[in-house]
Amino acid sequence: MSYRRGALIVLEGVDKAGKTTQCKQLVHALQQSGRPAEMMRFPDRTTQIGQLISSYLEKKNNLEDHTVHLLFSANRWEMVPLIKKKLDQGITLVVDRYAFSGVAFTSAKPGFTLEWCKQPDVGLPKPDLVMFLQLNPNVAAERGEFGTERYETSVFQRTVQQRFEQLMKDTSVNWKVIDAARSIEAVHNDIKVLCENSINESENLPLGELWK
Ligand SMILES: Nc1ncnc2c1ncn2[C@@H]1O[C@H](COP(=O)(O)OP(=O)(O)OP(=O)(O)O)[C@@H](O)[C@H]1O
Ligand SMILES: [Mg+2]
Repeated sequence: MSYRRGALIVLEGVDKAGKTTQCKQLVHALQQSGRPAEMMRFPDRTTQIGQLISSYLEKKNNLEDHTVHLLFSANRWEMVPLIKKKLDQGITLVVDRYAFSGVAFTSAKPGFTLEWCKQPDVGLPKPDLVMFLQLNPNVAAERGEFGTERYETSVFQRTVQQRFEQLMKDTSVNWKVIDAARSIEAVHNDIKVLCENSINESENLPLGELWK
């Protein structure tokens, strides 16, 4: 049986690790080589839920911590029909942050366990490949000032990094750690090879369910 579906590829990492830069370059390179590919990002600030999240991040409104966690998850779930449709059409999706960021950020707050944070995202389409852009927070800081959005502080980002490290111990997810301290081009080359291999391996496999 041949599915010939697109692959679900996720880029994760702390702030300024180069996720958005690399997602764009990867989609461009895949398209250049004749592979259908599109970019997605989370949070998707364009939906109604996304607008609530966006104003929360911009500190224009305040939301209770559990509530905002569930909104971030709902923002992924509302895209699931579209994700499945695109993959079925043979389009590879390159996703800038996914459930792992959702869990890493909330569980970096006091009083939240990793287990509690994972539950709302259990059963989401499982990425075929998750590339973690590894960057020392001191190097990240050299890439420019933190912005003014919520979470953009080096203390918080260090805790987020620790939570990502806990999540990466889970071998049910296909994690690849990328040294993101190198040039944009060197990082891109590694990512492209891993992604092409994943596309070839995934096209005949059914899409999995995350953390299930
Ligand atoms: N390999 C690299 N070397 C040096 N600078 C880089 C590299 N990759 C990206 N940058 C620069 O670092 C900054 C942050 O990159 P980018 O926006 O891609 O990171 P990000 O992980 O998407 O950040 P955020 O989590 O805040 O969205 C940009 O100014 C970008 O040009
Ligand atoms: Mg970004």
